[in-house]
Amino acid sequence: MSVESKIVEHYEAGKLLAAIEAGVEALGRTTSNVTIDDLGPVDEFHIGGRAATIALCERLRVGSGAQVLDVGCGIGGTARRLASTIGCQVTGVDLVAGYVDVARKLTDWTGLSDQISYEVGSALDLPLGESSFDAATLLHVGMNIEDKQQLFSEMRRVLRQDGVLGVYDVIRTAEGDLSFPVPWASDSSTSFVSDIPTYEAAFSAARFEISRGLQPWRVRARLLRDPQAKDRRTRGPAAPRAPRDHRISHPRQDREHGRRRCGWHRRACRDHQPGEVAP
Ligand SMILES: C[S@@+](CC[C@H](N)C(=O)[O-])C[C@H]1O[C@@H](n2cnc3c(N)ncnc32)[C@H](O)[C@@H]1O
Repeated sequence: MSVESKIVEHYEAGKLLAAIEAGVEALGRTTSNVTIDDLGPVDEFHIGGRAATIALCERLRVGSGAQVLDVGCGIGGTARRLASTIGCQVTGVDLVAGYVDVARKLTDWTGLSDQISYEVGSALDLPLGESSFDAATLLHVGMNIEDKQQLFSEMRRVLRQDGVLGVYDVIRTAEGDLSFPVPWASDSSTSFVSDIPTYEAAFSAARFEISRGLQPWRVRARLLRDPQAKDRRTRGPAAPRAPRDHRISHPRQDREHGRRRCGWHRRACRDHQPGEVAP
């Protein structure tokens, strides 16, 4: 099985949409009036959740006329945040067709379909024309991709000459083995967490100029073996706590997937407990 097929298997969407729909109903909302803030607890598959997305969006410094690409868009949380806060046009690309289907639905529910489109495709061979975007984002995707140089060369190809790339990835800051499974990989065959020099070399090879220093999260491999320590150290910027009666629980936080598949969410939303969930 290829690495990309294994990645699809790892992230496969299953009954995600039905679970989110149940969560929306539980909020007393409908698919016609649910907001991107309602969806925030479930559509951000990265450490720091929506607070991290907002921080990255602000740093892109693009305006409402911009065309923005989100590579490895998951179910579209970042795309919707970009489109609604900046007013720009966004294209999301993801390897997992099920995620793209869910992304399209949630975007339709939140009235953003005229600003966002999605494609199924690989970051290593983007199904997009050259020089089409003013900015691109990559949130927690690079650790699934071994060939960082090809990843960033593809992003460079589709960006305009003065385009901006915002990257927020899990970075290796020390030697040591990861204890699998981790949220992005079931085993080492699809995990390619790399250090800052590797990213810098790949950026340079792809002709990117680094305009802000790369700032690693202090997540050490040693801590990843200790779930409690990991939680303490990898929470990232605190996500806003939703009131108890106004939130959607993560649909994967169920008995079947348990903690294994909900790492991002547990860190982003500390008030969610296993078992609160939509099936
Ligand atoms: C941890 S999730 C992050 C999703 C989204 N960026 C977010 O932060 O909410 C990683 C995503 O990267 C996608 N992905 C991994 N490898 C990819 C590749 N080679 N090409 C496109 N998407 C990829 C996965 O399908 C998954 O949706």
